[in-house]
Amino acid sequence: MVDKEIEKTIEALLEERREFKPSADFTSQANVREAAIYQRAADDPEAWWESQADRLDWFQKWDKTFEWNAPHHKWFIGGKLNVAHNCLDRHLDSAGDRVAYHWVGEPGDNRSITYSDLHDQVCRLANGLKELGVSKGDRVAIYLPMIPELPAAMLACARIGAAHSVVFGGFSAESLRDRINDAACRVLITADGGYRRGQIIPLKLNADDAVAECESIEKVIVVQRTLEDVNMQEGRDIVYQDLIEAQSSECEAESMDSEDMLYILYTSGTTGKPKGIVHTTGGYLTGVSSTHHLIFDIKPESDVFWCAADIGWVTGHSYIVYGPLANGCTSILYEGAPDWPDKDRWWGIVEEYKATILYTAPTAIRTMMKWGIDYPNKHDLTSLRLLGSVGEPINPEAWIWYQEFIGGGDAPVVDTWWQTETGAIMISALPGLTTLKPGSATIAFPGVEADVLDDKGGLVGKGGGGYLVLKRPTPAMFRTIFGDDERYRKTYFEKFGDEIYFPGDGAKLDDDGYFWLLGRVDDVMNVAGHRISTYEVESALVDHQAVAEAAVVGRKDPKEGETIVAFVTPRAGHEGTDELMIELRQHVAKVIGKLARPHAIIFTDDLPKTRSGKIMRRLLRDIAEGEKPGDVTTLQNAPILDEIREKAKSLGSRDG
Ligand code: WTA
Repeated sequence: MVDKEIEKTIEALLEERREFKPSADFTSQANVREAAIYQRAADDPEAWWESQADRLDWFQKWDKTFEWNAPHHKWFIGGKLNVAHNCLDRHLDSAGDRVAYHWVGEPGDNRSITYSDLHDQVCRLANGLKELGVSKGDRVAIYLPMIPELPAAMLACARIGAAHSVVFGGFSAESLRDRINDAACRVLITADGGYRRGQIIPLKLNADDAVAECESIEKVIVVQRTLEDVNMQEGRDIVYQDLIEAQSSECEAESMDSEDMLYILYTSGTTGKPKGIVHTTGGYLTGVSSTHHLIFDIKPESDVFWCAADIGWVTGHSYIVYGPLANGCTSILYEGAPDWPDKDRWWGIVEEYKATILYTAPTAIRTMMKWGIDYPNKHDLTSLRLLGSVGEPINPEAWIWYQEFIGGGDAPVVDTWWQTETGAIMISALPGLTTLKPGSATIAFPGVEADVLDDKGGLVGKGGGGYLVLKRPTPAMFRTIFGDDERYRKTYFEKFGDEIYFPGDGAKLDDDGYFWLLGRVDDVMNVAGHRISTYEVESALVDHQAVAEAAVVGRKDPKEGETIVAFVTPRAGHEGTDELMIELRQHVAKVIGKLARPHAIIFTDDLPKTRSGKIMRRLLRDIAEGEKPGDVTTLQNAPILDEIREKAKSLGSRDG
């Protein structure tokens, strides 16, 4: 982001100056009431994280809390535990009959699954996986809709010590294939299909296409969700239900080392190849359990927690599956779209299950705002006592709307900053303690050392803007990039050295030391809360035979955060027609997934380039934003800019 943009964003953010102190009522019942927690954690972070690791059940206690061989770090070394045991078994005596998930299918079917039910299913599937030859250290790919079998599959892997790699159901066959091959997964767990806006997503069809090019896959387990007729390959494909019915419901949980891999989750980076983010066992579970308990103020006996993300993203991993289950809490799991069959679907679910906490993304909140308050007003939302936001900066207007119309005017709104890499929330209010400022993620979680640096690594101090950094590892932080440790160092530790983690976000500190997140500073876009790299979309475009060159930029959008604008030069013999535009959008959907489809494509004979031939995306971003392009002195082909600007007029102004 260029300075000019940063300044503008800051100005817009600071227009809303209201502050919200926690109410006495909320504080009196909150899980944290003493501000001293921050000092305690800052004085002795290791002791603080130890106290949080004590929230878990360890088969064997660790010998050493923390080892920092920058940029690498380890936590709770020598400790032994099992994640599935912590998420299920240890709750059975006191809370076996408690609902783990109120599951709501999009077509209207539903099931409430208790901790005992889930334990039963997980043990059976774990035994099934073992029978298929999966053992400790293997990788299992999971490509499922939002059905209870998805958390069950993740926990079954965790139970036997296999690492899972969940691939979001919206990704294409090719994306699935690349992720399976990168981690050499042995088994894929998928479904015949899933429901989305009344349509069936053909997951098995995609899975078949993917697996045809995956040598490592030996077996494919298929959940029957839609009961559509799908191809079942003899000897390779097995129906989920058949597999688990034949198994015992007892399966001992494997004793795992604290540093053993729990899962891999792929996320976009600044190159075409997604990064396999590696999370481990003891530290990760400590981080998600602690943050879930303290930030969402969880009372496992009475709360109904709803994180309305998809489990295919880290938010779902940490706050639908591992955090809530480690804490023995009841969650809602909803399969489908917020506007199916109508735009009040979410609010009907909140009312029916008396959800007490809702955690969602600003893009969803802005969409709901646009739909209008008649939809929430049709339902009784008084059960909601706390609201959360994640995925991108929340604009103050959306924050206030969320609190007012969803939270009944008094529910605290916790804006939580974190990433796939950090595993757990890093910057957020503690709702019983922190004075909230709409638009700010407020302050670092206890034990987290966040700061803002300038380009040279100097502290910007209060009132300054620059790069967000984390100055000390925390237990839930990822350990490396799967199969590419060099990329781990280069991506995150080159800018400020091995000891300072650079997440890729810009931020400002206000006079109270609150963090105001300003968006990505690299070539990663944030489209409706999903990370997509410009490079990935460019690679998909140039992969099409009619495309010679492509440059992709994110354009600020009042609803989606950013939308994707592509500048494309067709190959000789091809015209930039409407048909080609449609074809290219379809092509990107096929290569990456629908979420990466460019919103607009502008055809041009050439792209603005420096004399060394580097495409100047910065200028294209200015054009996409409807602004006059910045410094053009280094351009080799300046006249092309006017041509592109003329064509880009159809994009309209930013608020259009
Ligand atoms: C952005 C999602 C501002 C940020 C959990 C980060 C945010 C990226 C916030 C990670 C927030 C996430 N305020 N920006 N509260 N939360 N982001 O890996 O740019 O899908 O680097 O993890 O989302 O996205 P990811």
